[in-house]
Amino acid sequence: MRIAVLSDIHEGLNRKNTRSDIMATLKKWIAVHSPEVFIISGDMTAGPEKSLALLNQLQREYPQTRILFVHGNHDIYHEDSELAYQTLLEFQGNLGHGPVELDENWVIIGDGGWYDYTFGIEGYTKEQFQTGTFNDFTWPDKTNAHWTGNDNEVTERYITRIENWLSEYRGRNIIMVTHFVPCSQFLLCKNDPSWDFFNAMMGSSRLGKLALKYGVEKYIFGHIHTRYHDKYKGMELICNPLGYYPHEWNFKSVEEEISSCIKVITI
Ligand SMILES: [Fe+2]
Ligand SMILES: [Fe+2]
Repeated sequence: MRIAVLSDIHEGLNRKNTRSDIMATLKKWIAVHSPEVFIISGDMTAGPEKSLALLNQLQREYPQTRILFVHGNHDIYHEDSELAYQTLLEFQGNLGHGPVELDENWVIIGDGGWYDYTFGIEGYTKEQFQTGTFNDFTWPDKTNAHWTGNDNEVTERYITRIENWLSEYRGRNIIMVTHFVPCSQFLLCKNDPSWDFFNAMMGSSRLGKLALKYGVEKYIFGHIHTRYHDKYKGMELICNPLGYYPHEWNFKSVEEEISSCIKVITI
């Protein structure tokens, strides 16, 4: 079974900046390669309605490919992020509905996730991370995402939900998916607090611990716009973002960037 993996498509921004129809290029790729499963691990575009519309359109046009999705921070930008979360559940392939059994061995388990400052650097308080301002830059989620409860409580909810599913499927071959980063080694530390401060908003070490506890075989995530395919303590980790044009791309052409970026794994 072939599973395509991509995150951080940021359709709106990349369409505007490339002046090109990103979705048409993505669709062309799906039409040619026709993978059985396509995992999109968050940041489809900004705002739940737009992300939902793109996902539904993709699935409608390519019924032979099962599109699976977890939300990113940009997908839930809304005055009520709980409502945004619910809106995105209207997409049938949203992993927030629960585990998806691919066959008698493999199961995909995940949800967007959030962050709890477990990746926060020393010397700053929880309150400072909560405010999310360093010098005169405020982390965009602080103004665009509006959850009930603080970051720690939001993360706790995801951890509980995902752990319930993991324990239910213990012993199976599990592919875990979140948008947020599960392990600190994937964070870029520049020894410059104006950058490193925001690593607190990249994910949670609790996600990685959960994956190891339940013997997850493959872990797919996004959020950081750097591509990784690594092994860690027997677990295969894949972060495969498209990222922002032009500074995070390898090619000038949308076709070349998308086709070279999409990763296909076989199980
Ligand atoms: Fe992103
Ligand atoms: Fe993100």
